[in-house]
Amino acid sequence: MDITVTQRQKKFCDAQAFEVLYGGAAGGGKSYGQIIDAFLYAMKYPRSKQIIFRRTLPELEKSLIRVSLALYPQSVYSYRKADHTGTFVNGSLIDFAYCDSEEDVYRYQSAEYDVIRFDELTHFTESMYLYMLSRCRGVNGYPKHVKSSTNPGGIGHSWVKKRFIDCCAPDTVTKAGELTRMFIPARVTDNRFLMKSDPQYVKRLRSLSDRDRRALLNGSWDITDGRFFEEFDRSVHVLCAFEVPREWRRYVSLDYGLDMLAAYKIAVDDGGRAYVTAEVYEGKDNGGDGLIVSQAAERIKELCKGDEIYAVFAPPDLWSRQKDSGKSIAGLFLENGVSLTRVMSARVAGWMALKEWLHVTDDEAGGQTARLRIFDSCQNLIRAMSLLQCDSHNPADSAGVPHELTHAPDALRYFIAGQPRPAEKAPAAYKYGFSFEKQLSPFDSEKQMIII
Ligand SMILES: Nc1ncnc2c1ncn2[C@@H]1O[C@H](COP(=O)(O)OP(=O)(O)OP(=O)(O)O)[C@@H](O)[C@H]1O
Ligand SMILES: [Mg+2]
Repeated sequence: MDITVTQRQKKFCDAQAFEVLYGGAAGGGKSYGQIIDAFLYAMKYPRSKQIIFRRTLPELEKSLIRVSLALYPQSVYSYRKADHTGTFVNGSLIDFAYCDSEEDVYRYQSAEYDVIRFDELTHFTESMYLYMLSRCRGVNGYPKHVKSSTNPGGIGHSWVKKRFIDCCAPDTVTKAGELTRMFIPARVTDNRFLMKSDPQYVKRLRSLSDRDRRALLNGSWDITDGRFFEEFDRSVHVLCAFEVPREWRRYVSLDYGLDMLAAYKIAVDDGGRAYVTAEVYEGKDNGGDGLIVSQAAERIKELCKGDEIYAVFAPPDLWSRQKDSGKSIAGLFLENGVSLTRVMSARVAGWMALKEWLHVTDDEAGGQTARLRIFDSCQNLIRAMSLLQCDSHNPADSAGVPHELTHAPDALRYFIAGQPRPAEKAPAAYKYGFSFEKQLSPFDSEKQMIII
């Protein structure tokens, strides 16, 4: 194979640590580095066995398989599509593999490899990676390695960062127990082939969102780590509690099961901005006892504390009838004095709508704001919003595990799906500081003063 390599690619090929990560900017030459290194190893060590993973089969076919077919000389290499295996004239082989689900790693239960490679390591879970480490073995005396390449970001960002970036000085072999690790940072400017053939590439990376620019252009690992609500920023979305004006429209939105009740009181002002003002978060997932419907209804009434509530939004599964009683949970809530409003919320569309409400914009005072904000007393919601992860297969959906983190964001999603309406516009006098008015809300016939 007649190919020139970059300095960084050479470092990756020469790296002698047991675990190596070549990670950073997009286009740094990482995947090419893997393919070149795999070739050199295969040729140097006859009958050696390597495996190279991408998370999904289409990604594998479009990237690594395609590049290896383009680069490896046909005189020494042939590829069998049926089992995704490439073989060399000296008996070496490379298995091209993917790992859609956690269970997929068990396909390799009795396999042995001299080198195991992961491209886009942050697309994998830590357990997949750790399981495959045990497959790196053999009696042929060849050096054994697990060599990975990746961009920052993705569901595995956090564990990859902890394993390689937080504890290894760049370009240095570091001891990790009995074994060794090495992190080789990738920069886009390392790749002079790309710089020369596509000088606009860096400009395009510069125009990305702040987070993507930092990850893909700078190769920065100090970005969020697969969080589902990337836009969620405590300094914008969380605020100290204040007295909510009486005329603002109040809603409750809840997620309920025998394991957990997550219910939120949410006030909407006349500009359509929403404030999550109070929460009930109680059940087994929170270390307590599950609440039966009558108990849950009591908690919701306490949450409302005499406020007029426009609607109590709840997911449609509460309307399915129980086999034994023939009654639905929503029916039981009604018997206990809480009338629920059913909302339909397709998950991905629901999340997209919620993300619109969380979208950060500049405010008139030169700061930042969002349409939906949360009082700092709603600790469980705030925690879940900052910790909930993306689903490993569908980044547009949230992860179902840990299950405990799903209840509070789900309740918020039902609130948006319920299409809450703004409070009635205050009369003109309101603009000037205060007004004395009757019936600002349909529920409120008392005279009141509004201070703005
Ligand atoms: N040694 C090389 N010789 C010639 N071209 C190269 C070489 N290394 C990389 N390139 C070119 O640079 C492009 C980007 O390289 P590569 O796909 O390896 O980057 P990457 O770091 O894996 O990018 P991404 O982060 O997007 O996965 C390749 O498509 C190829 O055209
Ligand atoms: Mg790549």
